[in-house]
Amino acid sequence: SLKGLDLLAEIARLKKERNAVILAHYYQKPEIQDLADFVGDSLDLSRKAAATNAEVIAFCGVRFMAETAKILSPEKIVILPDMDAGCSLEDSCPPDQFKAFRDAHPDHIALTYINCSAAVKALSDIIVTSSSADVILKQIPNEQKIIFGPDRHLGGYLARKTGRDMLLWPGICIVHQAFSETELLKLKAEHPGAPVAAHPECPPHIIDHSDHVGSTKSILDFAIHSPSKTILVATEPHIIHQMEKAAPDKTFIGVPGGDGNCNCNMCPYMALNTLEKLYVALRDLEPRIELDAETMAKARVPLERMLEMAG
Ligand code: 13P
Ligand code: SF4
Repeated sequence: SLKGLDLLAEIARLKKERNAVILAHYYQKPEIQDLADFVGDSLDLSRKAAATNAEVIAFCGVRFMAETAKILSPEKIVILPDMDAGCSLEDSCPPDQFKAFRDAHPDHIALTYINCSAAVKALSDIIVTSSSADVILKQIPNEQKIIFGPDRHLGGYLARKTGRDMLLWPGICIVHQAFSETELLKLKAEHPGAPVAAHPECPPHIIDHSDHVGSTKSILDFAIHSPSKTILVATEPHIIHQMEKAAPDKTFIGVPGGDGNCNCNMCPYMALNTLEKLYVALRDLEPRIELDAETMAKARVPLERMLEMAG
């Protein structure tokens, strides 16, 4: 509609006026992905945020991602269209409980998934993303004991893959937890030979049926380059937008969650960001990520280790 066009023009105008860069995650609505300067997974978005020359970072993703951008670029203004865009993994790991867990295991280092609060990052030794976790884990001496949190499925997957025994924090992603094994089996029967690509936040009963397991970026690459014409996608389905753009002749099918009749394979937090809220955020430079200086300085150390170790 004309109104929609106006909004896009206004966002473009404000972006220039504010010297802003728009970063978006693959789970954002297509209209947001399409106007972003860069769309990526958590690791690539962190790299972009650390390297940008823009004065304002408009982060279309969830709060822990925007906080990471702020920690890596503290002199920048970082805005998030909706400050309520949280993450169930962050919610599953309150900093005081995480600190008590660490204190109970003083001979362990904390290898921590980026899906957590800035306060939990400040209590961690090394941050990982789904795309960098195994590369980073390989660089840690075998005898070193490790606490891994907050995602027990990513931790369990890494432990099975590498043979490393890690103490796991019991957090889960409500979206990936919801993928249904029976619905996946139905899809596999309907599309014989179609490969399954899954995110490591999925529980083992989904991972065990998968041909490829990796970050959103690696799922996207796998889906685009797979010789198969049909690919079953076990991650948040908004990423299919990029798959369809890159390989319009192929069919990408999102695995349903629950009984197949809910929207529970969609991330309710990512969905809070809209074009209207992005417009208002660019206009007002609010809501803005603000973190206390001590938390930022402490959280920066394990994040920079991640960027260094991820290569
Ligand atoms: P990626 O780093 O693979 O993009 O994952 C982010 C995320 O929140 C997955 O649920
Ligand atoms: Fe968090 Fe899951 Fe949403 Fe990713 S999909 S942001 S892990 S709740």
